[in-house]
Amino acid sequence: SSTKIAVVVGSIRKDSINRKLALALAGLAPSGFTFEDVRIDDLPLYNQDHDGTPSEQVKRLKTHIAGANGVLFVTPEYNRSIPGVLKNAIDHASRPYGQSAWAGKPAGVIGASGGAIGSALAQQHLRNVLAYLDMPTLGQPEAFVQFKEGLVDAHGKVTVEATQKFLQTWMEKFAAFVKLHQG
Ligand code: FNR
Repeated sequence: SSTKIAVVVGSIRKDSINRKLALALAGLAPSGFTFEDVRIDDLPLYNQDHDGTPSEQVKRLKTHIAGANGVLFVTPEYNRSIPGVLKNAIDHASRPYGQSAWAGKPAGVIGASGGAIGSALAQQHLRNVLAYLDMPTLGQPEAFVQFKEGLVDAHGKVTVEATQKFLQTWMEKFAAFVKLHQG
């Protein structure tokens, strides 16, 4: 059976460059891997009062993560950190205490920005969170993608050859990392 990757994109806007990057990455994966987007745009704001009575959306989120062999985070940088919508999703699936869906799931972190630092600071903040959640996270290669208009076409193809090669290598390393931790 295939290795299932849950893809969490930290932007919920329609024309997200990070969603385009996520689509491109799925297309560069070795055979035997399937990628499914995790829906986070309809989650309520996390409130600990509701830990015992999770909404259907929160149950869906946790079931999706629990059924995956690995998690791919593709995040923008908002004000030098991760977007609130991403942190909200992470917090939801981490609770109730002791019942986190994230624990032990191998993770990859990548992201894009229009700016030259390519979401580096958001990714570094995210790594801190994932370390606490006990998610083994691919260390190298790092990938800070400066996204220029047209980098990924409508079919999810990377149009710049050097970037395509770099992302392909990144994906191969991530895939191998997930396999290593699959047990
Ligand atoms: C940004 N953006 C941004 N870019 C960056 O490189 N560093 C940053 O700290 C920020 N901060 C920031 C805050 C907020 C509230 C917004 C809306 C945007 C720009 C950001 O990289 C750009 O909007 C991307 O296109 C967002 O990613 P998606 O939504 O296209 O995936």
